[in-house]
Order: sequence, then structure tokens, then C-alpha cells
Amino acid sequence: MAAAAAGVRIAASILDADLGNLGNAIRRVERAGTDRVHLDVMDGHFVPNITFGPDVVAAIRRLSRLPIDAHLMISEPSRYVDEFIDAGCDSITFHVEVEEPIEPTLLRIRKAGRLAGLAIKPATPLMALDPYRDLIDIVMIMTVEPGFGGQKFMTDAAAKIGPAHDVFRDRPGEAPSRREVHVDGGVNRDSAAQCGALGADILVVGSTLWKKGRDVSEEIRAIKALADGAYKGRHKKTDTGAAS
Ligand code: DX5
Ligand code: ZN
Repeated sequence: MAAAAAGVRIAASILDADLGNLGNAIRRVERAGTDRVHLDVMDGHFVPNITFGPDVVAAIRRLSRLPIDAHLMISEPSRYVDEFIDAGCDSITFHVEVEEPIEPTLLRIRKAGRLAGLAIKPATPLMALDPYRDLIDIVMIMTVEPGFGGQKFMTDAAAKIGPAHDVFRDRPGEAPSRREVHVDGGVNRDSAAQCGALGADILVVGSTLWKKGRDVSEEIRAIKALADGAYKGRHKKTDTGAAS
């Protein structure tokens, strides 16, 4: 798997940061060496929580050069996707469970030159992604019910991380950056090695970074190291054909 060389990368979620001082939160994760920023957009309808919209995303875009992954937990991504593209997101991921046509929105994201992703809730089978296999760059495996930070990592849902790579099969010659598996929810020092061993390329890390008195750099370093050891071990075995 070509993505192995890059190793595990960390996307810092600011959902549980001090939202009264967003600039400070972004600077902290930037200094801590996060690879990306993960922004959780919630509409109070698809999930029972409301966060922020494209204007706040655009404001964060102006604060940092880090890649921005938008995770839209909203019922009508088609209605707002252009605003998130204009806000400067590098990738836009929305949920396969939305009750509206999915393909046109994926095409709009790709046409704008951004990475397009689909997220799946813990109870949704990977099969739900089959119709969109050729149109997605990111599969985001949710290991908590979307809506809130600070929930417990769901090991059963994490079992989908390995097979999620199959969504990208039969797409030879494509850049590894166009086929990423993200894991989102409950990722911390306890679950990081498991995520890496299962082959998650991007770990979304939220509330554990923002606990009182926590050193964000140390937390990111530790989580990345735990995940990366397991991730590289897994890919090494894959390369020699000893495991899949
Ligand atoms: C939950 C969000 C997550 C959240 C993760 O719906 O999608 O990105 O920030 O937070 P933790 O790491 O606390 O589970
Ligand atoms: Zn998220």
C-alpha cells in the first residue's frame, strides 16, 4: 500500500477547544505539529448538536496554512457545499446516511479540486459506500455516534477501518493522497495503536487534546507514535504478502 510511506497523520479537531479563543486553539495545534485541522460542522438536525458554518471555517482558513478537513454532519450538504468550498476547505466529507442524492455533491467537491469524502456512522455497513467508490478520496469511519466529542471509542465500528481500504480497490495509478481512511471519535492514547494496526491513515483527535493542563504537543506526539508503530508494522507485513 503506497500510503504506508507517509505514516499515520493527525487531524486535530477543535470541537472541544476553547471556542472563545479559536485563534489560540489553532496556534496550539499548529505548534504541536498536527498535520491537519478537522472542523466539525453540525446543523442540529442530522445530529443533536449545532456548531459553526462556512464563515467560521473561512476565518480559521485565514489563521493557518494547515490543510483543513471539513466534516459536515448536516442533512443537506448539497445546499451548503459551495460555501464550504469557497471557505477554503482542502477536503469536504459528509455522511452517506443523508437523505438526498450524494453523487452530485461529491462531483462538485472534486470539480473544485478538493478531496471528497464520505463518513459512515458506527451502525452503517461499508457496503453503503459501494455506489460511490469511484468518486471518493476519503472514507471516514466514525467510532462514536456523531454529534459530540469526548465519547468512548467503539471497537466494533473500528473493525471497518481495514476493509475500508477495499473501497479504493481497482483504482490503480492513483496518488495515495486520493485514497485515505480516516478514523473519527474516541481516538486517544488508549485507542491509537488499535487505529494504526487496523490501517487508519488519518486519526482525528479531539477532546483528549483539550483537557485542562494537557500539553497538546506531547499528546499529539504520543498518539502519533503509538499509532505509527502499529501502522508501519501492518504495512510491512502487507508489502511482503504475510498479512492483508
Ligand atoms: C464527533 C466529531 C469528532 C469529535 C471527536 O461527532 O465528528 O470529530 O471532535 O472528538 P473526540 O476525539 O473527543 O471523540
Ligand atoms: Zn469529526
